[in-house]
Amino acid sequence: MKVFDELDAWRDYRAGREAPGFIPTMGALHPGHLSLVQRGVAENPWTVASIFVNPAQFNDPADLRAYPRQVDADLAQLETAGVEAVLLPNEKALYPDEYRYRLSESELSRRLCGAHRPGHFDGVLTVVLKLLNLVRPASAYFGEKDYQQLQLIRGMAEAFFLQTRIVGCPIVREVDGLAMSSRNLRLDPEQRRTAPQLHRVITTAGGPGEAVAALADLGFEVDYVEDVDDRRFAAARLGEVRLIDNVPLVEPAP
Ligand code: PAJ
Repeated sequence: MKVFDELDAWRDYRAGREAPGFIPTMGALHPGHLSLVQRGVAENPWTVASIFVNPAQFNDPADLRAYPRQVDADLAQLETAGVEAVLLPNEKALYPDEYRYRLSESELSRRLCGAHRPGHFDGVLTVVLKLLNLVRPASAYFGEKDYQQLQLIRGMAEAFFLQTRIVGCPIVREVDGLAMSSRNLRLDPEQRRTAPQLHRVITTAGGPGEAVAALADLGFEVDYVEDVDDRRFAAARLGEVRLIDNVPLVEPAP
C-alpha cells in the first residue's frame, strides 16, 4: 500500500490511471468505515482512502483537539482491506488558500445538525470537493450514519456536475444498537452503557416530542429529534460526547 502525504507525488501516481473507488475518512477507523472500504474494494479496479481530520468542519475547537487519532492502526486496517493508496495530507497541503475559499449551501446545511454546528457542513463540503478533485474517483462511498452529510454531498455532486458516483452505505451498529462512531471511544463506561438508548428511543418512540422527553430522562442533553420525510434524525450529548443517529420511519417491505 502506498501512503501519500505529498500531493505532488500523489498527482504523479494518479496520472494516466483509470478512475478508482474512494473512501474519505477522518481516521480512528472502525467496522463502519471498513464496510465502506470493503464495498469500494469490491466494486473498483483499485481503491483509495484518505485520512484527514478537517479543521474546517469542527465548529468546536475542543472537539477538534479531542478527536481520536491512531494513524498507524488505521493504515494497517486499510492495507488488510485491500486499499492500494492512502492520502494523508497535512493542513497546509489541503488548504493552500488558507481557508479563503469555502463552498457553501444555504438550505439543508442549516437544518438538523447544521442548526447546532454553524459552518460544519460548509467545512465538510469544502474538503470533500477538494478531495474529489484530487482523487477524481469513479465512485465515492459515504455512510448513512451521517445521512444529512450524504444528502448534501449528493446535492453538491449534482450542483457542480461532478463526474463521481456518490454511493450511500448502510449504518453499521454495535450489537446493542449503538451506531459505530470514532467518538464512541471517548465515552466513559457509564455513558457507554447509556449510549445505545439513543437508537432504542428513536426507533420506538411515537413522535419526536416523546423521544426528546425519554432521552432527557435517561440523562442525554438533546440537540434535536426531528422527523423529515420518511426518516427520524437525532443528535444528543452524553457529557462532552455528541452522538447522532437516524432511522427510517417506514421499514422497507420484506
Ligand atoms: P468520518 O466520520 O471519519 O466518516 C467517514 C465515513 O464513514 C463517512 O462517510 C461516514 O458516514 C462513514 N461512517 C462512519 N461511521 C459509520 C457507521 N457506523 N456505519 C456506516 N458508515 C459510517 O464523515 C467524515 O469522516 C467526514 O465528514 C468526511 C466525509 C471524511 C469529510 O471530512
